[in-house]
Amino acid sequence: MTRTRTSQHSRRSLRAISFGTLAAVVLTSAVSVGVAATSAQAAGSTLQAAAAESGRYFGTAIAANKLSDSQYTTIANREFNMVTAENEMKLDATEPNQNQFNFTNGDRIVSWARSNGKQVRGHTLAWHSQQPGWMQNMSGTALRNAMLNHVTQVATHYRGQIHSWDVVNEAFADGSSGARRDSNLQRTGNDWIEAAFRAARAADPNAKLCYNDYNTDNWSHAKTQAVYNMVRDFKSRGVPIDCVGFQAHFNSGNPVPSNYHTTLGNFAALGVDVQITELDIAGSGTSQAEQYRGIMQACLAVARCTGVSVWGVRDSDSWRAGDTPLLFDGNGNKKLAYNYTLDALNAGGNGGNPGAGDCTVTVTRAEEWNDRFNVTFAVSGTSSWRVSIGLQGGQSLQNSWNAAISGTSGTLTATPNGNGNSFGITLYKNGSTGLPSATCSTT
Ligand code: G3I
Repeated sequence: MTRTRTSQHSRRSLRAISFGTLAAVVLTSAVSVGVAATSAQAAGSTLQAAAAESGRYFGTAIAANKLSDSQYTTIANREFNMVTAENEMKLDATEPNQNQFNFTNGDRIVSWARSNGKQVRGHTLAWHSQQPGWMQNMSGTALRNAMLNHVTQVATHYRGQIHSWDVVNEAFADGSSGARRDSNLQRTGNDWIEAAFRAARAADPNAKLCYNDYNTDNWSHAKTQAVYNMVRDFKSRGVPIDCVGFQAHFNSGNPVPSNYHTTLGNFAALGVDVQITELDIAGSGTSQAEQYRGIMQACLAVARCTGVSVWGVRDSDSWRAGDTPLLFDGNGNKKLAYNYTLDALNAGGNGGNPGAGDCTVTVTRAEEWNDRFNVTFAVSGTSSWRVSIGLQGGQSLQNSWNAAISGTSGTLTATPNGNGNSFGITLYKNGSTGLPSATCSTT
């Protein structure tokens, strides 16, 4: 039995995502191919216009102390329709003394955004970092209550004005542990995250509530899996979570992963929106531009990837200006990365490039033995497909039929080998009995 959830974007017909919890999983990474061919829409000449063609937003972080810089505000107003306060809604800014709230700079940003017709992402209600001094020194029940009061007061102040809140930020550890990050908040009890989400929902029922983190882009990384498992658990228990934010701070040590659209697609299949929330990519020239293009294509390939925000306007505005990671140079000129980003958004679904398209794959558990089990896949929508298969934990490939398979663990790639659209694999369990994920792309 499968359940089907359909996401409709305003100007493109997007494919349904179906997610079966028992025997079959249907995943689609899809933007309708018919639209690009039939649409008469003009190419968007700004990032926000190009993103809006597929019902998505394009945003930026804004710093209140730059709102008097006319070059900055001109670019920001022209190109972006979503605004995130870079620092002004954080805990130290909004509650500098316990129970004394200061919304001056956050309000300036909301006011600028609203008077220019833009929406606002709230960042962030609960975080181990940038806590005011009084909170850093708290622990236990007193800290838990102070955190919940902060969430309630800030979300209430901005009620009705926030598109999405980063309710909890960066709560998982880096590296291979898959553990929660140690922090004073974590030490109040493992349920602090869901408590924060419940408080946020009560305070602002119409804002989408997101979990936001970095280094969660590569599907095979332990931190990605840990966040995925938390979101799956929250959805299964009715914890109010609507979206997952991928910060997407990339550099040579943390490059854009080739499986990015698999990551976004797999999270979306849990029944949450996904958003790229703080995008910046260290580098320059063609290399940087191609990576930006890849990110756009990954988002466009996932129906529930609802928008992208970059973390600043010009390179000189960046928290890591020396990496020149943004779309405008320090003089406000459009960079090559801007052109590639705009073109990718205007090209829509697959941009004429392989990797995103209109197909569906059904995954079914078949014969099972002590040490291994069979999984079968049925592709529909195209005969030119590529299926990205995300194995669980220690699983590895033992055998396959009716498709060419590359890889043996982590992420496998299946392509046609002349035997039609149904294929299968045998996986060694190695302690992991779960069904692998699968995402289909046309080629
Ligand atoms: O406001 C003071 C100013 O008065 C002082 O003169 C100046 C120099 O000391 O510091 C200013 O505060 C700095 C603030 O940025 C505003 O510029 C803080 O020291 C500095 O720590 C703060 O950095 C911010 C950083 O978060 C803190 O963690 C960055 O601007 C901001 O871009 C960055 O954003 C984070 C996201 O919230 C979460 N994800 C990662 C991302 C990048 O680190």
